Parts: sequence; structure tokens; C-alpha cells
Amino acid sequence: MTAQIIDGKALSKRLREGFRERVDHLADQGVQPGLAVILVGDNPASRVYVGNKVKACEECGVRSFHIALPVDTPQAEVLATIARLNADPAVHGILIQLPLPPHIEPRAVLEAISVHKDVDGFHLYNVGGLVVGNTIFPPCTPYGVQLLLDTTGTDVAGKNVVVVGASNIVGKPMALMLLQREATVTICHARTRDLAQHTILADILIVAAGKPGLIVPQMVKEGAIVIDVGINRLPDGKIVGDVDFDGVKEKASWITPVPGGVGPMTVTMLIENTLRSAERALRMRQADDFQEWEAPTLKNG
Ligand code: GUN
Repeated sequence: MTAQIIDGKALSKRLREGFRERVDHLADQGVQPGLAVILVGDNPASRVYVGNKVKACEECGVRSFHIALPVDTPQAEVLATIARLNADPAVHGILIQLPLPPHIEPRAVLEAISVHKDVDGFHLYNVGGLVVGNTIFPPCTPYGVQLLLDTTGTDVAGKNVVVVGASNIVGKPMALMLLQREATVTICHARTRDLAQHTILADILIVAAGKPGLIVPQMVKEGAIVIDVGINRLPDGKIVGDVDFDGVKEKASWITPVPGGVGPMTVTMLIENTLRSAERALRMRQADDFQEWEAPTLKNG
């Protein structure tokens, strides 16, 4: 069997075309969606990711606020920046690029972002929402993977899903989302013994380990759907995922390429969450306006 390709670039493009109408509708109401992206330090990979996010904003009619802070910025200053953005009505989404320099406590910073602007979905409130199946902002990478899976027409309910990698950004939220859709989910991680014993049972294999060539054909069930979240730069500069694409595509039914699979979807779902946040803010403002209008009537009555 040769796998069909799950084209993240094409899906991403279709979704972004659909954003246009929502941005226009918000503009009619006097709202331009705004996303603040904070980068502390100058990690080269983070700089590229942040650049991609800002570029996607421009492309989609979202106003971006790019805040670059020096690597030695004290935590208190980062928290003050977040407090200012929380209070700014032009900002509907706030994202702080991870990883942070070691003197900054990531949880303190993530918890400081207003839950109403947490478009990364990393605040404990949003993580808790994911656990009970009621999240406001699904984390962008797993959200994108879910939409990519939908394009295959597969109902995940009852399927064996194996997630390789247990990060807070991808593996854990991914597992929770698919559990919510009634898949049978296994999470494997760096301490898992005999990884292949688990992966070979997967109807859907999602790999987010950050290790090039981790998944080889012998570890994949014939006809499985394989989603490769890995983005690794080889010494020769080539970008590859965690899956031996050329080998595994001969066994899988569907497979994502790297690049052009999950990567473009992550940024697109960030824009989706930012639009959703702007739409929520508008609804809340309209509800407030309604109450302000109604209150004098009640008082007078
Ligand atoms: N670093 C790697 N992936 C992500 C992401 O999705 N969001 C943030 N904020 N930082 C990241």
C-alpha cells in the first residue's frame, strides 16, 4: 500500500481563505482582531516561528503586536508586559513563545495571560477545559492535527490511537482531544519500554518526539494513519520529521509530509483562535451594551 498524502499546506490555505469573511464581518463592527506575540531572547528557531506567526497575521488581516524582549528581561517585567496586554482592548490573543530563558518560570507567565486571550490554550483553565471536553481555545498543534485527521474521513471513535511524545504543548492535549472523541488512546514517551510494541497496534499514529527517524516501517501497522508532528533540522540543513517518510509511506494509508503537513496548520489554528477570541470579545461587548441599555429602563420602571 502507498499512502495518500495529508496536505496541511492546502488545508491551511482553504481555512485561511475562509477567515477573510470573518475578518470582514468583524471590520463591519469596528473590530480588527489583534494578536500579541512575545519573544524573550533570541533563540533562532523561536525567531523563525514568531516570524511565521506575524506573517500569517498580516496575510489574514489580523493586527500583530510583536514584542521582542532581551534574554535577561526580569520575570516581573514579562508579567508587567502581559498585564498591559491583558488590559488592551485591541489585543484579542496573547502568546509567549516557548521555551523561555531559564530564569523565567513558564507556569507563572502562562497563568498571567488572561483566559479570554489565551489563544495558545496553555492556561490551566483552558487545560482543565480540555480534560472535561469544554475548552475555549484548543492548543493550536493538536487542533490542527484533529482537522488533518478529519480530512481522511476517519471516525476516530473506538480506534487505537498511539501518541508518541507527552509534552504539554502537543502530546498530552492531543491525547485528551482524541479521548474526548472516544478513541482508545495510548501515550508513549521517552521512558516507554519497547516503543514498537505500542506503535504497531496503532490505527492512528501521532508522533511528536523531536527525534528524526524514530519511526521506521517495522513499527507501523499496515494501513495506519501516520501524523508526523516533528520538525528537525539535519546537519545538512534539510528539515525532516520524526518518521522515516519514504519507508513508512509504503505501509500507511495516509501520512503527513514534513514540511507541509502539521506545521502550516499550527499557525493557521492560532489565527483561528485569535478570530474566535475577537468574536467572543465582540459578543461580550454587545451583551454589555445591551445591559447598559436595559438598566435605566429597569431603574425607571
Ligand atoms: N514553542 C513551540 N511550539 C509552541 C507553541 O505552539 N506555542 C508557543 N507559545 N510556544 C511554542
